[in-house]
This record gives sequence, C-alpha cells and structure tokens, in this order.
Amino acid sequence: MDFSQRLCTGLISFLKMGVNLYIKRDDLTGISQFGGNKIRKLEFLLAKAIKDGCDTVFTYGATQSNHAMQTATACRKLGLNPVLYLVSIVEPDENDLKANLLLDHILDAEIVIEPLNGDDEATADKRAFEKSLEHAKRLERQGHKCCMIPVGGANGAGSAGFIGGFAEMLCQMEEINVSPDYIFHASGSGGTLAGLVAGKKIVDSNARIMGIGVSEKDNTYLNKIVALANSAIEYIGSNETVTTEDFYYDSNYYAPGYEMPSEGGTKAIKELATSEGIFVDPVYSGKGFAGMLDYIRSGKVPQGSNVLFWHTGGNTALFAEKEIIGGIYKK
Ligand SMILES: Cc1ncc(COP(=O)(O)O)c(C=O)c1O
Repeated sequence: MDFSQRLCTGLISFLKMGVNLYIKRDDLTGISQFGGNKIRKLEFLLAKAIKDGCDTVFTYGATQSNHAMQTATACRKLGLNPVLYLVSIVEPDENDLKANLLLDHILDAEIVIEPLNGDDEATADKRAFEKSLEHAKRLERQGHKCCMIPVGGANGAGSAGFIGGFAEMLCQMEEINVSPDYIFHASGSGGTLAGLVAGKKIVDSNARIMGIGVSEKDNTYLNKIVALANSAIEYIGSNETVTTEDFYYDSNYYAPGYEMPSEGGTKAIKELATSEGIFVDPVYSGKGFAGMLDYIRSGKVPQGSNVLFWHTGGNTALFAEKEIIGGIYKK
C-alpha cells in the first residue's frame, strides 16, 4: 500500500532553545486530513490483509482511538469493512459524539463499545478482544474473511512501516546536511518506538531515540517492544537484532493517566501553537512534546544538539470530550 502523500512531511526548524529543533510531520501523513503515525503501520498491515484475501478488518482501542479511526479510514479507501472494538475509558455521549468516535461513525465503521464496568483498561481490552473473536467467527461462517489488527497496530508488520519511516527521515535530514542526535516521540503501544529503533539499527545511525510514555506500563513492556522490533526486522528480511540496550523509554510525563490531560502537556500544546501555529494533542503528541521540552530545558539534551520531534498526530483529540482536553482553552 502507499497511503503516504508525504509531500507535507518536511522538517521544520523552529523555536530557539539552544538546540536545533526539527519536526517530522507524520501528523500530515495519510489519506484524510486526520493522519498520524498509524498510517505507516497500516500500509503494511492492510497490504497483508489484502494479500491474505481478507474483506473485513477488526481492530481495537479506546473510544477516542486515533489508530481505530485511521484504520477505518484506510479500510474505506481500500474497500475493506472496518469493525472497531472500542473500550470507553472516557464515556462518550451518544447524542453528542466527538472527535474520532464521530469520524468512525461518519466512516460507517461497525462499532462495538466495551464499557470498563469497573475493571481496569487491560481487563476490558481482553474482554473486547474475546468478543471480537466470536464476532469474526460469525462473519466467517457467513463467508467473510477477517483479519485482526492489534491495539495500536503493534505487530511486526505494523512496526516495519517505521523502519522505512526512519530511513525516509534520515534522507530528508541529509538533504539539509543535518544529522539528528535525538529523536523524541510519544509512545503508547510501542510499535512506533520499536520500528524506529529497528530502522536505526539497520541503517546504523547514531541518533538516540527517546520514547516518551503516555500510559502506565508493567515491567514486561520493554521486553515486549524488543520482541516487536525484532519481529519487524524479520518481517523485512534483515538479520539484525536489537536488545533492551537499544531502547530508551521515559514514563515520567504521562501522569495523571492515559486520556487525562497533564499540566506540562497543556502548556506544551499552547507553546507550540502560539510560537509556530502547529498543533499537538493532549493524549499523545502534547505529552511527548512536553517531555522533550523538559529534556532540553533541564540540560539533559546538550546545547547545540540536533533534536527532532516526530509528530505522531492525534490532533482530533483537541475536539474530544472535556475530560480529555482539560482546561486548554482557559487563560
Ligand atoms: C497520536 C499518537 N501518537 C503516538 C501514538 C503512540 O504510538 P505507538 O502506539 O506506536 O506507540 C499513538 C498511538 O495510538 C497516537 O495515536
């Protein structure tokens, strides 16, 4: 697949903070106006779905999932049926649908909402997945062929999209004679981080890739993303391998929680919008950007460094429920 329309993914230099700062505009990558980092994954994931003869694609996430919305968009473009199992971490108002959930409805995706019902998110995710397997079995009995794309598109095929993304970014940087020292981005499922680290390994770059976490993770997380990176490497047929040593992940910037606005994130959204006219969002890219600003301003990133912020999109969240956007519009 090629969904890229990457004419707008240029690198932008801005804000003088003693480092040279660039943005990789994956927020502008995609089929619709509402792109983001899932598009690179979907190029590989849906190519595989079509190759496997599927006509129906299941995926998962929160009710305001960017991944689910982008999957539905890409499915529509390719004539596939999207089925979304969405956990309502923030309860949607059926009579006043917002942001991604509204777009999912406009796209006429089949939507099944799984309430938390007092459980944690992981338990509700598991419940949704089990129900979706039953659903897929029913559809297959009617002659459909289904494929299941995991939360965040996080498998080897999906992360392979970011191996290409890393190489694309290096070529763009080379064109302006810049070698990136640090690459920051917001990390959720870890699929983007895994793909970027795999890409760095394959092309042998010195850039330090910094994943800024947006949700709580248990201590199995790092091993999972190492495995994810290795399966992406295998997917593209390379013999390289990565280990935990190749990863850098910081979970100090997501509090108070996933889909809950942070003070740093809110400030970062305002700062980038008012200085450059570029938007980041309260759930992902705003927290990633806030983490990066803290690294620069606290001196953890040395002055004079070439720093790249990988903008992963998510801006529809600026139109989401109040619980998600918080007090962003207040003076
Ligand atoms: C806007 C945005 N940024 C970052 C991420 C994190 O990407 P990943 O799940 O690959 O870690 C997501 C995932 O949903 C996202 O929607």
